[in-house]
Amino acid sequence: MSVLGRTIGFSILLTLVFTLVANLLPQMEGEAPREETMDPGELTMDSFVALGESLFRGKGTCTLCHNELGRAPDLLAIDVVQAAEQHLADHRYHGKATDAAGYLHESMVDPGAYVVRGFGKKGSNDTESPMPAVDRPPIQLSELEMDAIIAFLQAKDGNQITVELPAGPSAPAVSGEPGDGMSAAATAEEALVKFGCPACHTLPGSESVVGPVLTDVGARRTPEQIRESIVRPEAEIAEGFSGGVMPGDFATRMTVRELDMIVRFLAEQKG
Ligand code: HEC
Ligand code: HEC
Repeated sequence: MSVLGRTIGFSILLTLVFTLVANLLPQMEGEAPREETMDPGELTMDSFVALGESLFRGKGTCTLCHNELGRAPDLLAIDVVQAAEQHLADHRYHGKATDAAGYLHESMVDPGAYVVRGFGKKGSNDTESPMPAVDRPPIQLSELEMDAIIAFLQAKDGNQITVELPAGPSAPAVSGEPGDGMSAAATAEEALVKFGCPACHTLPGSESVVGPVLTDVGARRTPEQIRESIVRPEAEIAEGFSGGVMPGDFATRMTVRELDMIVRFLAEQKG
């Protein structure tokens, strides 16, 4: 083989190795549950902000919608405090907040107080928000948890943090992804909430328009098809929806029993 041939062969090999490593890395990280537990006695503003970030990416399920896919404003990419101040001054705002922190709190408990242009529920002409109130089930964040998220949203762009550190008890344990670090669910309903399914799907007792309604999925799909949609969402994209939205890693995060319970439960939902 010529020197040139060998050099080219070597470059191709290097590229392959890099691609392989680059592909493996996020997967390995994704499989190691990040868990943070805090001692309230040692709570500093830094750890409160870190708690807010974990909640934003994890239990709060915010990144399911607030990401670069364009279904909701990409809060990680914009200065949220600036956006809050602009929207407070907009004549379409009809809430009660007087400052950015109040606006962010209100966005979580009463998302309809202001609907960002272009992101309203289909057909509502931006008068109704598709975002669920996150202080209610299934997400159910506490006041403390919402304050931590506000602290994170203020801190990430170098804005002044105006929420106060909680005094006293409650040491929330939170984790990186919905479901990680929580104990195995005992019922199908618990498992659905644990993995954040109601954030995107209408299920008995909750509504969301991001993914297909599942209260009749048992009439439309066989249990095998339902299982496949959860384990490999990309295999078949439900009509009228786009791929790449439903997380593809449930299979690695659910126990076999949790998956079985969910499939059986959904197969019984016949509308
Ligand atoms: C099911 C999807 C969904 C989830 C989950 C969700 N949001 Fe939203 N959110 C939206 C959409 C869509 C909008 C834009 C429409 C509106 O203004 O209500 C929005 C708007 C907002 C706004 C107002 C932004 C602005 O520029 O005025 C804030 C703040 C916000 N969300 C925070 C959060 C936080 C924090 C969480 C997690 C605790 C969260 N959202 C969870 C869909 C979601
Ligand atoms: C971030 C939003 C999101 C989350 C979270 C989510 N899904 Fe989905 N899901 C979708 C979207 C969008 C589709 C349609 C596109 C597709 O088929 O991939 C879908 C499709 C499905 C389908 C196929 C429905 C049909 O009519 O064929 C099933 C079943 C399903 N999801 C179950 C679940 C379950 C169970 C969970 C929780 C473990 C879950 N999904 C979590 C967005 C989501």
